Amino acid sequence: MAYNLLKGKRGIIFGALDENSIAWKTAERVHEEGGTFVLTNAPIAMRMGQIKELAAKTNSEIIPADATSEEDLQNLVSQSMEILGGKLDFVLHSIGMSVNVRKGRAYTDEKYDFTTKGWDVSALSFHKVMQTLFKADAMNEWGSIVALTYMAAQRTFPDYNDMADNKAYLESVARSFGYFFGKEKKVRVNTISQSPTPTTAGQGVKGFGGFINYAEKMSPLGNASAADCADYTISLFSDLTRKVTMQNLFHDGGFSNTGVSQEVIDEFSE
Ligand SMILES: NC(=O)c1ccc[n+]([C@@H]2O[C@H](COP(=O)([O-])OP(=O)(O)OC[C@H]3O[C@@H](n4cnc5c(N)ncnc54)[C@H](O)[C@@H]3O)[C@@H](O)[C@H]2O)c1
Repeated sequence: MAYNLLKGKRGIIFGALDENSIAWKTAERVHEEGGTFVLTNAPIAMRMGQIKELAAKTNSEIIPADATSEEDLQNLVSQSMEILGGKLDFVLHSIGMSVNVRKGRAYTDEKYDFTTKGWDVSALSFHKVMQTLFKADAMNEWGSIVALTYMAAQRTFPDYNDMADNKAYLESVARSFGYFFGKEKKVRVNTISQSPTPTTAGQGVKGFGGFINYAEKMSPLGNASAADCADYTISLFSDLTRKVTMQNLFHDGGFSNTGVSQEVIDEFSE
């Protein structure tokens, strides 16, 4: 159901790779709610992904940008304002990648240039995006910036590897930049801590199948899907959440506050 919650609002959506992506689902929902946006992804993802299909469906333009490149980000922000006809109201950072995970390196055997690259893409890029927006004065007052994170920032999930550290950094950047964006521009900054979700990035984590089933059984409401996450993100982009900022918001069917569920007890009972 659509409520016209984002009518007249403009933004940038990072990270739609294919129809499973959280950013893809969010772009579809923003479009349904009347928002307009520019889609962006790393130049390499343009070749692999199906982003053109999404752009056609949502009447959006695509501007390639590597989120680690300040030059690409400056170009993205200035071009987006031109295309959309003014300053921005929302930005979604839905980006994650660990080279150590990709190359099968254990947390106890990190290759540090892989670690640095993964941190730049997954965590520092959020600072770079916000610094670019801030310096260009590209956000309208009461705008909203959201990034996606995972609970491994607070609790250990061994196979999440160095992404856990990247997410902890990302969440900290949301709080730190949220202060300045709030004070100086009345813009809110939050992270959504999402359930395990079957996407390209999610499935890259070792043992994902067992893990997503475990999370499903542990969560009183079941796992939140990518579509559920899109709905939640819409609420954070809307005018209904104007005083929510500097928060890490768990969107996980209750997983994060559940000690154990009956299903998991049953699994271990004789
Ligand atoms: N899937 C899950 O289980 C899960 C759970 C919690 C949080 N998240 C987070 O959600 C976000 C979106 O991931 P997803 O699950 O939709 O997977 P996805 O693979 O569909 O999206 C990840 C995106 O990051 C983009 N990206 C990688 N390097 C980039 C760069 N240098 N510049 C710009 N973009 C780049 C990829 O091209 C891709 O579009 C990530 O931050 C991820 O960590 C995912």
